[in-house]
Amino acid sequence: MEFARLLARKKYDLVVVARNEGKLLQLKNELEPKGITVHVCACDLSRPDAALDVFNFTLEHGLEIDVLINNAGFGDSGAFADSDWKKQYEMVQVNITALMQLTHCFLPQMISRGSGKILNLSSVAAFCAGPGMSVYYASKAFVRSFSEAVAEEVKGTGVSVTALCPGPTATGFEAAAAMGKDSRMFRKAALAEDVAKAGLRAMQKNQALCYQGAFTKAMGFLCRLAPRALTRKYAKKMNAV
Ligand SMILES: NC(=O)c1ccc[n+]([C@@H]2O[C@H](COP(=O)([O-])OP(=O)(O)OC[C@H]3O[C@@H](n4cnc5c(N)ncnc54)[C@H](OP(=O)(O)O)[C@@H]3O)[C@@H](O)[C@H]2O)c1
Repeated sequence: MEFARLLARKKYDLVVVARNEGKLLQLKNELEPKGITVHVCACDLSRPDAALDVFNFTLEHGLEIDVLINNAGFGDSGAFADSDWKKQYEMVQVNITALMQLTHCFLPQMISRGSGKILNLSSVAAFCAGPGMSVYYASKAFVRSFSEAVAEEVKGTGVSVTALCPGPTATGFEAAAAMGKDSRMFRKAALAEDVAKAGLRAMQKNQALCYQGAFTKAMGFLCRLAPRALTRKYAKKMNAV
C-alpha cells in the first residue's frame, strides 16, 4: 500500500494486485482523487501461472509497465516438520515463482524500450538461514540472489533491478506469519512508509541492493563476517515465539 501511495504522489498511474479486491478498490478510491488512474487486478499469486494473468491484464488494458514492484509475500512461523504443507507451497509460489514469472513477463518489454525499473522485496532474512521460519528465509535469499544476478545481466540496457532488504517493519506481516504479538523481531519495527521511501530511492539510483535501516545494515555487515553456524543460532533465538 505504501509503495502505491508514494508513487501516486509522483503521479504514476497504477496497476495494483492482491487477493483482497475490496481493499484494492478502497485504495483506488483513496488515490484516484490525486489525479491518477488505478487499475485493480484481483489475483491470487499462489496459483500456478497467476503472474501470466497479471501480464495479460496489462496487455488487455493496453498498459505499458515502467515500474514493476514485486511486493506480495508472506512468511510462516514454526518448525518445518510441523508446518502446514499448503502454506509452505503457497509461500514459494508467491515469494519466488510469481516474482520470477512477473519479472520474466515484463523484463523483455522494458529492455526493448530501453527503460524500466524492477523493485523486488527481499529481506534481512536473506542474510542467513532461519530456523523457525526456514522456507521464508530461504525464499528471501532466492529473491536477493536472483535480483542481484539479473541486475548485472541488464546493465547498460536502461533497465534496473533492485532487491530491497528491510528489517522488521510494522505491517500485516507478523499476523500473516503467525508470529504472535510479542515476537522479538518486531520490538523495534520500522515504519512501512520509511521502508518504501528507501526502496524507491534505491530503485531510482539503479542500486542492485538496498539494506533499509541501521539494524539491517548492521545485520548485513555482521552476517558477512560471522560464521554461518553462529548466525543461524542467532536467527533461531530471534524467531522463537
Ligand atoms: N513486514 C516485515 O517485517 C518485512 C520485512 C522484510 C521484508 N518484507 C516483505 O515485504 C513484502 C510486503 O509484506 P508486508 O510486510 O507489507 O506484509 P503484509 O502487510 O502482510 O502485505 C502482504 C501483501 O502481499 C499480498 N499477498 C499475500 N499473499 C498474496 C497472494 N497469494 N496473492 C496476491 N497477493 C498476496 C497481500 O494482499 P492480499 O492479502 O490481499 O492478497 C498484501 O498486499 C513481503 O514480500 C515481505 O516478505 C516484510
